[in-house]
Amino acid sequence: MTIEQKAFPLEGKVDGFLSEKSLTEHRDVLYKGYVAQYNAIQTALAAADVSKANPHYSEWGELKRRETWAHNGVLLHELYFENIGGKGTQPGPKTIEHINRDFGSLDNFKAQLLSAGKVAPVGWAVWAYSFLDMKTHIYVVEMHQNHTPWGVIPLLILDEFEHAYYLDYATKRADYLAKFWESLNWNAVEARMGWINQ
Ligand SMILES: [Fe+2]
Repeated sequence: MTIEQKAFPLEGKVDGFLSEKSLTEHRDVLYKGYVAQYNAIQTALAAADVSKANPHYSEWGELKRRETWAHNGVLLHELYFENIGGKGTQPGPKTIEHINRDFGSLDNFKAQLLSAGKVAPVGWAVWAYSFLDMKTHIYVVEMHQNHTPWGVIPLLILDEFEHAYYLDYATKRADYLAKFWESLNWNAVEARMGWINQ
């Protein structure tokens, strides 16, 4: 089953955060590439010989190993693009309720989120609701698939791959993180609160 690339009209929405060149490269080349790679893997899986699977090497097995990379690469980018470009928006009531309950205050949440954005050499910071304890946590994911928790609902996504910021911020990742916070689209985050069924 193949997937379709989604449209994210970000032009003019990220004033002061990222340049249009950076965003369009990110969306129209890299994200587009993940969608294409995911579809290519699905097509190849359908044609590969599943009977050859083993712990060492098989075409089907190697495609399976890459499937989560492409899957998460698509999904995390879509969630990231949705939750930026909202400069001036404020955290909604359900967002604030979860932040205050699980982090004590918005300041603590911000400190943890932006600190998480400094941890992975290449990866993501993810605020998510966990079925393990029915609370929200900030997770650090390396690459797209390593250290990824299971049983969580993603609420807010921060891309910390160098491709997300290097064109505009070079080595100053902390400056990118500060501007990311200003650009957060809290309306998108609040809408995801509806994914939590409790
Ligand atoms: Fe990215």
